[in-house]
Amino acid sequence: MIAIAIDGPAGAGKSTVARKLAHELGYLYVDTGALYRAIALYMTAHEVDIDSEASVEPMLGGVKLELRYLQGEQRVFLNGYDVSEDIRRPEISSAASHVSALPAVRTFLFALQQNMAVEHDVVMDGRDIGTVVLPKAQVKIFLTASAEERARRRCAELTARGMASDYAQVLREIQERDDSDRNRPIAPLRQAADAVLLDTTELTLEQVVARAQDEVRAALEREACVKNAL
Ligand code: DC
Repeated sequence: MIAIAIDGPAGAGKSTVARKLAHELGYLYVDTGALYRAIALYMTAHEVDIDSEASVEPMLGGVKLELRYLQGEQRVFLNGYDVSEDIRRPEISSAASHVSALPAVRTFLFALQQNMAVEHDVVMDGRDIGTVVLPKAQVKIFLTASAEERARRRCAELTARGMASDYAQVLREIQERDDSDRNRPIAPLRQAADAVLLDTTELTLEQVVARAQDEVRAALEREACVKNAL
């Protein structure tokens, strides 16, 4: 099986690039952030203290998560219900960052993520895919961009959807999330030693995708050469 790991902070363009690569290669696109979001949705709906491991851990027994693919698009099912839209609410973004810092939550999701890569060729995006979940991934890309540029993109996205946005607030939220994702003691956001760094601040989406495609092509060719040599 082939695995492509794409990590990086929120808003760096991971999901767009990962989705596009998966489509072109015929691999499964796995958005792991959606799993953390679904847990955050469940915990907040049950009014659980999302910073407390002791409160969250026993509740995980009531969580059944499933990723299904409808017309190639990932949908997240929480206890049989499609929550793919609900998990995108801004308060869930923030709650997901909190629950993702808890070791019990990370352990709970670890096997689910790894199993996806055992059964399918995948393009998986997240924060710790290249470092923890799929350390043997054949391709690892760390996508980043300045916080200001990521906030600008997020505002443009909201405007395009006819929604109001406040640049200063969006920037603040991005910085808070970066801070908690980078500084948590377990599986913090960081570039794997063998990942290729792609700073997208000055690049268009097309350029980012083209650069990622080049990396994937080169890595898959290397992989094929090694196999042929054996
Ligand atoms: O990628 P996203 O914004 O949907 O992720 C939501 C939160 O989940 C984010 O704050 C960090 C966390 N996350 C994580 O800790 N590890 C992952 N592999 C994916 C997401």
